[in-house]
Amino acid sequence: MSEHLAGVWFQATDLAVVEGRGCSVFLADGTEYLDFTSGIAVTSTGHCHPKVVAAIQKQAATFIHSQVNCYRNPIVGQLADRLFEITPDGIDQFFFSNSGAEATEAAVKLARQATHRPNVIVMDGSFHGRTMLTMAMTTSKTGYRVGYQPLPAGIFVTPFPRAFEWGVDEDEASRRALSTLRHLLKSQTAPDETAAIVIEPVLGEGGYIPAPDTFFEGLRELCDETGILLVADEVQSGFGRTGKMFAIEYSGVRPDIMVFAKGIASGFPIAGIGASADLMGKWIQGSHGGTYGGNPIGCAAALATIDVLTNDGIVENAFDRGEQLRTALRALQTDHAGLSDVRGRGLMVATEFTNADGSPDAATVARIIEAARREHRVLFMNCGTNNNIVRWMPPLVVTDAQIERAVAAFSAACVA
Ligand SMILES: Cc1ncc(COP(=O)(O)O)c(C=O)c1O
Repeated sequence: MSEHLAGVWFQATDLAVVEGRGCSVFLADGTEYLDFTSGIAVTSTGHCHPKVVAAIQKQAATFIHSQVNCYRNPIVGQLADRLFEITPDGIDQFFFSNSGAEATEAAVKLARQATHRPNVIVMDGSFHGRTMLTMAMTTSKTGYRVGYQPLPAGIFVTPFPRAFEWGVDEDEASRRALSTLRHLLKSQTAPDETAAIVIEPVLGEGGYIPAPDTFFEGLRELCDETGILLVADEVQSGFGRTGKMFAIEYSGVRPDIMVFAKGIASGFPIAGIGASADLMGKWIQGSHGGTYGGNPIGCAAALATIDVLTNDGIVENAFDRGEQLRTALRALQTDHAGLSDVRGRGLMVATEFTNADGSPDAATVARIIEAARREHRVLFMNCGTNNNIVRWMPPLVVTDAQIERAVAAFSAACVA
């Protein structure tokens, strides 16, 4: 690889891939790897889905950069209309940017202007991005902030309900987390100084932990009482990843602002936020924007992705393959004592490893990921503050045979 590339990027593998197709990536010599990373939960319809490729090619030949402040290409409105159809009730209008971090920042900017309140509460273990503000909102690992302090102020951290880690059921975990949050609002940031509570409906980088429905219900109640806005960061969990179009749908709770990126366009960089027309109406015109937000090729890729997800049964496939995956992984637990928890929704699945004394076992996870790649040509990544979780995030078009191949590789790697 070129010596002119910056060394700052963490590298999970040293593979030089030149092509991606469906759930596989290929080296220049044709060697195939089953890609259960999806480029970190991005390639929802698989690598280079023909319908997404065709939409990008057609748009690229028509209009590449239609800047939203200069003039409007109808495709940006078409994407907003389509998102209105598939997002929960009460999410009426959309703003577009390029990355998940930018979109999360946009959500905070909207929340601050709309509420005239400064502070934001995030969950312990959260990942919201790498910009200065979203880095301050990210608490999954110190490595993301090393050498960058001091970070922007006004961010407060509350526990995410962790039933497995705390050794309690989900209702008890919710009760404890909500109680600590209420205490935080009395001890550190008063409701009338708090603009938003930002939560990943399934904690992503922090450990692939679904938030219990009761937690969301409690958050909604609290936000309704206090006027704090509830922001669902669906960057990783959205667009079918969890077997529903958006993970928050499991709870039936309505967020005030939704943030999305990653799976929306199968890998083309486009992101955005959605909110009610009333809330969006409070965002002062001209006070936010960006050169590339709403890029026509991104919009075309997103529209094609949403069509594939909805018309080709891909969201249902994510649900069914997720059930298949968790059943197969749970069956492995009897033979692998260290595999202490299998959890998740749809194709956002965690396999957590602990030592006999219950402490996190990062060494086994590193060994499994390495063996699966080297011996079986299956690519996995880890997650969790302690790096002791193998995370499963294949493309949503994955087949039952590909799930079987990955589980077999994982199982063999567990004993290697
Ligand atoms: C939940 C969540 N929010 C925000 C981000 C940041 O997205 P991006 O890397 O596109 O800036 C990520 C990235 O992993 C994420 O998982």
